[in-house]
Amino acid sequence: MADELIEIREISAEQTRAVRQSVLRPHQAASELVYPGDEDTESFHLGAMRGDELLAILSMYHQPMPDGRADGTPGWRIRGMASLPEIRGTGYGRNLVEVARDRAWGIERAPIWCNARESAFGFYEKLGFAIVGELFEIEGIGTHAVMVLIPI
Ligand SMILES: CC(C)(COP(=O)(O)OP(=O)(O)OC[C@H]1O[C@@H](n2cnc3c(N)ncnc32)[C@H](O)[C@@H]1OP(=O)(O)O)[C@@H](O)C(=O)NCCC(=O)NCCS
Repeated sequence: MADELIEIREISAEQTRAVRQSVLRPHQAASELVYPGDEDTESFHLGAMRGDELLAILSMYHQPMPDGRADGTPGWRIRGMASLPEIRGTGYGRNLVEVARDRAWGIERAPIWCNARESAFGFYEKLGFAIVGELFEIEGIGTHAVMVLIPI
């Protein structure tokens, strides 16, 4: 593990965009990588850094779960979760989710959810998330499921 090298810092939405593009949506333009709510006051963006090098990112939004899944009760949404290929499996993603979870639950202990792509189901399961509902397709990206972490 590379835990001792990991420093989690708050970053701006703007700082996330290069990694969003290179890891998550290389087929899209940078202008499309502005997600709704990026600049909301309750949103925050975290980066895992080695020195000034941004190695992994996560964004968190205070958004209820999708219609029909939680009756409009409050929620926190993770989006833009991405680690650079060269550091995957060394704990950066886990650290980001855990720091974001603790920060969000310090504000409101609501379920944390995401639209997880199939290749990341195992990552979220290791962090305590579970799939709810049916699988669905996002055009150009592939099969997804809503995954949820319920506060204990
Ligand atoms: C999914 C992703 C964010 C994981 O980040 P990461 O930095 O490699 O995650 P970590 O190293 O912190 O892994 C935490 C644990 O999950 C495991 N893990 C990581 N990715 C996994 C995967 N895709 N499937 C199963 N397990 C996985 C790790 O082995 C580790 O297990 P351990 O705690 O037993 O050692 C990263 O692979 C990535 O950016 N993938 C491409 C983009 C993507 O799919 N993003 C998610 C969109 S929903």
